[in-house]
Amino acid sequence: MFDAIQAAPPDAILGLTETFKSDSNPNKVNLTVGVYKDESGATPVLDSVKAAEARLLADETSKGYLPIGGLGEYCDLTQRLYFGDDHEVTTANRAATFQTPGGTGALRVAADFIHQNFPSASIWCSTPTWPNHPKVFKAAGVNVENYPYFDASSHGVNIDGMLAAIKNAPAGDVVCLHACCHNPTGADPSVEQWKQVADAVYERGLLPFLDFAYLGFGDGIESDRSALMEFARPGAELLVASSYSKNFGLYSERVGALSVVTKDADSAKTVASQVKATIRTNYSNPPAHGGSIVQVILSDAELRQQWDGELAAMRERINGMRKLFTQTMASRLPDRDFSFIERQRGMFSYSGLTAEQVDALREKFSIYIVRDGRINVAGINHGNVEPLCDAISSVLAAG
Ligand code: LMR
Repeated sequence: MFDAIQAAPPDAILGLTETFKSDSNPNKVNLTVGVYKDESGATPVLDSVKAAEARLLADETSKGYLPIGGLGEYCDLTQRLYFGDDHEVTTANRAATFQTPGGTGALRVAADFIHQNFPSASIWCSTPTWPNHPKVFKAAGVNVENYPYFDASSHGVNIDGMLAAIKNAPAGDVVCLHACCHNPTGADPSVEQWKQVADAVYERGLLPFLDFAYLGFGDGIESDRSALMEFARPGAELLVASSYSKNFGLYSERVGALSVVTKDADSAKTVASQVKATIRTNYSNPPAHGGSIVQVILSDAELRQQWDGELAAMRERINGMRKLFTQTMASRLPDRDFSFIERQRGMFSYSGLTAEQVDALREKFSIYIVRDGRINVAGINHGNVEPLCDAISSVLAAG
């Protein structure tokens, strides 16, 4: 039977890491997958995480299964981190939160839930979006539609196009939005624009679905929450897929959450029972270790403070690299404006490089970038910024 199977194409993002690993050039640079790197190019384990793991090793008494929805305290702490300690969503108990295997697990559970409960609903994705979004949603059987998002001329958000598409989407559809640090463009709506988007979504009778993978990587926890705060209106329904891969550096532990915000506490209980049924047939219950680490850190004042500092250091290094890259490109190509890289936020920016230019960077200079031109700014450091900008200038000059 397997003789009839055709090879699948490599993944647009993770596939490049495999090619990068086999490249023997000692000066190779990997700006592909969204993983934080420090000045030395390493993806370190946070000190707060190490401390939490030491406690877990000493205190853990069982490897028994977690409940279907995961660790209860982890879910409560996640709600408080994302919505804020005293937000009405949490105090009214109208959100149900589930620990999931990464943010991708949360996206898949939500997509399964949507398909099972609203079979005719489509999910609307930004153009462009994370390439795995449409794949996960379609794998769950949900139809995917697209709304305009990026304006290449301003390197910002095409807010008029986005609002027009939302206002025309059929009531009952779902709109997937990047809560901050848009992947792949790095361009986010302003606070005022988020208000317009939320007005349009709710007036049209759509269900907002916020993908929140980069809390703390934009301008800080408080300001990175502003889109979520705009959607968490009294009585309003929404879905939030969140991830601790980036902000806790827990990529390999697969630790995320799905929060379903309903109109009241009774509705939250009913919806939770359906989400649990969905989880049970998907992966049964989540792995414990990553969630336990987050739970230890967020429930301990000292570790929480240490983590806040480590998150701020990651954010500040990335924003510093945005500035350095912009300055270095200006010194190489003074007639070309790269200041948008400094204005954008999160791990990624859309460089504007074409697929051919990306291929040339890889073939001639062993510089790896996703073919749509997305660069992982966190992969830039003082050691590689000059050769990187020289190489980019060279391929741009070649046309
Ligand atoms: C990325 O966009 O690079 C990350 O979210 C990692 C992934 O799974 O694609």
